[in-house]
Amino acid sequence: MTEATLEQTAKALVADGKGILAADESAPTIKKRFDGIGVDSTESSRRDYREMLFSTPRVGEHISGVILFDETIRQDAADGTSLVEVIRDAGIMPGIKVDTGAKPLAGFPGETVTEGLDGLRDRLNEYAELGARFAKWRAVYRIGEDIPSAACVTANAHALARYAALVQEAGLVPIVEPEVLMDGDHDIEVCDLVSEEVLRSVFNELAVQEVALEGMLLKPNMVISGTDCPEQADVQEVAERTVRCLKRAVPAAVPGIVFLSGGQSDEVATLHLNAMNKLGERPPWKLSFSYGRALQAAPLKAWAGKPENLETAQAALFERAQANGQATLGTYA
Ligand code: 13P
Repeated sequence: MTEATLEQTAKALVADGKGILAADESAPTIKKRFDGIGVDSTESSRRDYREMLFSTPRVGEHISGVILFDETIRQDAADGTSLVEVIRDAGIMPGIKVDTGAKPLAGFPGETVTEGLDGLRDRLNEYAELGARFAKWRAVYRIGEDIPSAACVTANAHALARYAALVQEAGLVPIVEPEVLMDGDHDIEVCDLVSEEVLRSVFNELAVQEVALEGMLLKPNMVISGTDCPEQADVQEVAERTVRCLKRAVPAAVPGIVFLSGGQSDEVATLHLNAMNKLGERPPWKLSFSYGRALQAAPLKAWAGKPENLETAQAALFERAQANGQATLGTYA
């Protein structure tokens, strides 16, 4: 796989008007989502739900890629076609989450380091054979008193860079996801400072590991007020600060930045992305989305585990995908 091919894939994932659907919830996370709608999480209910999402008519007009969990990339649709085939038929690229989760960081209570490097080369080769074109690894940073620590920032950056190098070696595009959580009562200024520090550290390590920036995507949090902060920054401030922070820390060689939604409501996540793409001067990278909850909240609720709700649920997904597609162009109204 050449660097040019990686670059092509990365650029296609952030094509005009398109972004990524994150549907890679681990077993405990999808169970939590299903608990919310009163549906048992079984292999077949997870299959039915995800098949419903991927087979949404015309969803490929606004979704370029979908991130899968290990179980899903091996599953078949009800008619026996593989879900990977269903995704490809929609004109969408399949991707795969390859980290094995955020684990407590030894010596640093309340902080985590994301694991999954052991055996990753072999797993990546298998995922490539199963049809994956890109991969995802999520590092998590919590804001609190004296945290994130330097230990947490550097350990996660190192792991992200080792992951990204292995992914490119396997011919896939790495999505590098450092997520500064929005939990807490900190104000937007703190989120801004922490996000910049985290991003600088990540790009330092990516350089040390010689990751080709042209063949990767960054999936960061937006710069936003903590959920419990009494003073909530408005949409314009979030847009301006997020782009300023990214400009300070993200090299122009990176083709695209695909935000996570991180617990923002679906509408707010769309408004934030739209406002960023409406700011006067164009930044050097595409600004798009890789939303999980902000794309799935509406279809999940509409589906509620009932086959008769399929069309309503698909319409709800299409609506969010279309709105976010417009937000990548700054034309969402
Ligand atoms: P949210 O958009 O729900 O934050 O999920 C995106 C994601 O993939 C987190 O790793």
